[in-house]
Amino acid sequence: MGAGLLIVALALALAACSGGTDRQGREAGAAAPGEAAAMTIYKKQCLSCHAADLSGRVGPSLQEIGSKMSEQQLIDTIQDGAKGMPAFKKVLRADEIETLAQWLSTHTQAEGDDQ
Ligand code: HEC
Repeated sequence: MGAGLLIVALALALAACSGGTDRQGREAGAAAPGEAAAMTIYKKQCLSCHAADLSGRVGPSLQEIGSKMSEQQLIDTIQDGAKGMPAFKKVLRADEIETLAQWLSTHTQAEGDDQ
């Protein structure tokens, strides 16, 4: 009789533990630490021209940009802009641009397949 209760109590305790903290650490490279930050910036500054899923709108698709440009090239493009794309060096901080570039560079052909 007591054992059943104990198990329920244990299960509850375990559930509370695993759901309690929002900083569970990174799960095996699935989500890079800067990813959430990068996506927030992207949504604010880039989405209007490159679309929510990176498939492109006014600007080109960025879904496979990691196969095309290095992180440094991405940083340069974001800083200085391009034809039809504004420069962001006065809009974003250097570390924000770097976070974005890092995140974008993870979008390679293998990963960026359409879902
Ligand atoms: C006003 C629209 C606009 C906004 C906002 C914008 N872009 Fe662009 N972006 C463009 C256009 C247009 C191009 C194509 C430039 C060219 O042809 O040289 C481009 C090109 C790029 C490229 C190079 C793509 C390639 O294949 O060569 C990258 C990387 C990029 N944008 C990233 C970003 C990021 C990151 C942001 C947000 C910080 C952003 N863009 C915001 C319009 C925009």
